Amino acid sequence: MVACKMLFPRITPRRVALCLVVATAIAILYVWNPGAKKTRPLKRSFPQIIDETSTKHSPGGSKLLLGNCTGQPTHVLLTADSAMLGGMIAAVNSIHLNAKCPVKFHLVTTTDCAKHLRTWIQATSLSKIDYELLVFNKRLVTGMIKLRGGREELSRPIVYARFFVPTLLPDLQGRVVYVDSDVIVQGDIGELNKTRIRRGHAVAVSEDCNSVSKRFSHIQNNYQNYINFKNPSIKRLKMSPLACSFNPGVFAMDITTWKQTNMTLKIQHWLQLNTWQEVYGTGIAGGAAQPPMMIALYKRFSLLNPMWNVRHLGMRYKKMYSDQFISRAKLIHWDGPTKPWDGGAQFSKIWDKYYIPDPTGQFKVARRYGTV
Ligand SMILES: *[C@@H]1O[C@H](CO)[C@@H](O)[C@H](O)[C@H]1NC(C)=O
Ligand SMILES: *[C@@H]1O[C@H](CO)[C@@H](O)[C@H](O)[C@H]1NC(C)=O
Ligand SMILES: *[C@@H]1O[C@H](CO)[C@@H](O)[C@H](O)[C@H]1NC(C)=O
Repeated sequence: MVACKMLFPRITPRRVALCLVVATAIAILYVWNPGAKKTRPLKRSFPQIIDETSTKHSPGGSKLLLGNCTGQPTHVLLTADSAMLGGMIAAVNSIHLNAKCPVKFHLVTTTDCAKHLRTWIQATSLSKIDYELLVFNKRLVTGMIKLRGGREELSRPIVYARFFVPTLLPDLQGRVVYVDSDVIVQGDIGELNKTRIRRGHAVAVSEDCNSVSKRFSHIQNNYQNYINFKNPSIKRLKMSPLACSFNPGVFAMDITTWKQTNMTLKIQHWLQLNTWQEVYGTGIAGGAAQPPMMIALYKRFSLLNPMWNVRHLGMRYKKMYSDQFISRAKLIHWDGPTKPWDGGAQFSKIWDKYYIPDPTGQFKVARRYGTV
């Protein structure tokens, strides 16, 4: 009404009526807007896990090492083939820019991508990072991949490279952090490295039943959604079908325990068995790297702070997190079919801030209104 008075200093009944109509329309839109309701800040649900002090990031800003750094760098492993290479670049850049202490990157790719990746790093601002390039020997999983429905792209051998961390890094002891290439890290990766992993556990992962992911009730979140409990070998394990599943896309690993508990062998066993028996991969959730890891690690994993894997950004849903919540997330993850470089993904503006265009022009980033 104040705005009306300013616009129409001379009040006439017609003008008052017009103002009332406009004000009512605005009020109705405001109350009714479903987007506004959904994007309410989520602060109340996550008081214990939000660390306000380490959420600022300044991509492109100068690099300051602020932490109490030990002599050792944090070891971070990522994997990508040609389809994901640009994702890996953006993820690495985000880790690099937001880390408080030195990081050593172990970048695993395919034979045909190695040269391309090296050029991309050497010819750009990433030339400053400490990294090694590793080629994944796809023979390690030859004849072990069988999908029954689900997303065909999950049958690419590189998807399974994460199971072979001790093979890829034979000299490394202690901790390594693995992140998928469809993430952006906004927190200090050193914090993820220091996650508590209980004695006897090989990894810390994020469960699907925590408050962040449970809101997506249509996303499968327990073992029976992924695994065939009628299979005799599965029956013998006496796992609970209702046990909470976890996301295999972000984990802190204790390499020593992983080796001691023969985790790679165990996972390979389930991969292999699944090619000739129906062990997993029939449900809505499909099955690729997740079910064999879930079986091998059943009840033997520690939990990550959920803010270190805020996920489902690649699912084709309406925006379900508020901007404020996403800005506080330590790691955001476009798991699902829609990737931020393919156009149409939510929060792809954040991804764009960290992406470094391919100097060779091979990797194309699509945007809804054309290609950039
Ligand atoms: C570094 O460690 C010292 C002593 O342990 C502590 O007083 C200081 O606050 C720490 N600094 C940071 C940035 O964590
Ligand atoms: C990573 O975490 C482990 C376990 O807490 C710790 O021993 C190691 O020093 C950490 N590395 C760095 C670089 O902080
Ligand atoms: C791991 O495998 C080795 C060799 O096959 C075996 O001797 C050892 O008992 C296994 N350890 C565990 C914890 O399964």
